[in-house]
Amino acid sequence: MNMYFKVRCVLYYSCLLTIVAFIFVLNNTNELEQFEIETVTTFKYASEYRTLANQRLVTRSMADLGQMDRINKYFLFLNHVPNCGGEFLIMLLQQLGGLNNYRHVRLKRGAQILTTYDQNELITSIYRKLRDEAIPLSFDRSIYFINFTHYDKQSPTYVNIIRDPIEKLSSRTYFGKESELLKCIQMRTKCSIGDEIYDFNIPYFCGQHPKCRIGNSGWALEMAKKNVEKFYPVVGILEDLNSTLIALEEHVPYFFKGVRQLYEKKLSGIPRINLQMDFSTQNILKRILKTEYEFYEWIKARLKRQTQYAGNLY
Ligand SMILES: *[C@@H]1O[C@H](CO)[C@@H](O)[C@H](O)[C@H]1NC(C)=O
Ligand SMILES: *[C@@H]1O[C@H](CO)[C@@H](O)[C@H](O)[C@H]1NC(C)=O
Repeated sequence: MNMYFKVRCVLYYSCLLTIVAFIFVLNNTNELEQFEIETVTTFKYASEYRTLANQRLVTRSMADLGQMDRINKYFLFLNHVPNCGGEFLIMLLQQLGGLNNYRHVRLKRGAQILTTYDQNELITSIYRKLRDEAIPLSFDRSIYFINFTHYDKQSPTYVNIIRDPIEKLSSRTYFGKESELLKCIQMRTKCSIGDEIYDFNIPYFCGQHPKCRIGNSGWALEMAKKNVEKFYPVVGILEDLNSTLIALEEHVPYFFKGVRQLYEKKLSGIPRINLQMDFSTQNILKRILKTEYEFYEWIKARLKRQTQYAGNLY
């Protein structure tokens, strides 16, 4: 009886162990599949870049670095907002990789909000990728801002592009996913931003905290601005691609050197959607999207400041 019990115990635990090991292997497999590399470009490995990259990438406790706020100039992250021209920037990043000695990595799509555990996993896998590739990398994924510093890792250089919130709402309608907010306003009832907050600009810059997803929150707006000032040398505006590209080339030169030439030579502009919205609807929307508009205007002014001395470089 006693013997029988022992055998059962051993069997039980070995079975459990197998399951745990299996889960572990599965998880690791997932991690390996995390990266979809879309660009297949041949690189000239300029040795100085490589050395530079290696130096930069052998990190590190932030305490060792001594400077918590320093962002890594050779590690770019585009956490694009849907329907705002992110795909356009990705295309540019893919085309410029060969020219500027870096590689663009498209991260697997996933949720915008991650648990602490998953944020840590993502950061670890990104850092593993950086170490393995040993050249500067740019990444993109549509995800709310992640504070790398919080995980004791040097922050990437973040970049992003946003657009006028009303144009964005209209483009959603245009692409067939009708906005509940617009429907509500058209019915002349009292409306609020509701769940559509998840798609707007501020959460992408404010970050992972639940307070970032409260409509018209002053706290979320301030946090978003703070993160932009600290981690985003450039946030572009779809309505002003010229200034966006000038600012990117000036302030994020390693990745965007030559972007204006490329844009002029090879790419045509993004077609604008013709807004068919009466002024009263627009005014109601501007009230409902008050902090979103404040943020948009703030980014616009920042971009203007950054490019006012650039002159007509085209
Ligand atoms: C990021 O994390 C660091 C370290 O935990 C913290 O000091 C800093 O306030 C955080 N920044 C934001 C914007 O949350
Ligand atoms: C942007 O630059 C292009 C190319 O020179 C020019 O044709 C266009 O008018 C500019 N657009 C704006 C809004 O300045």
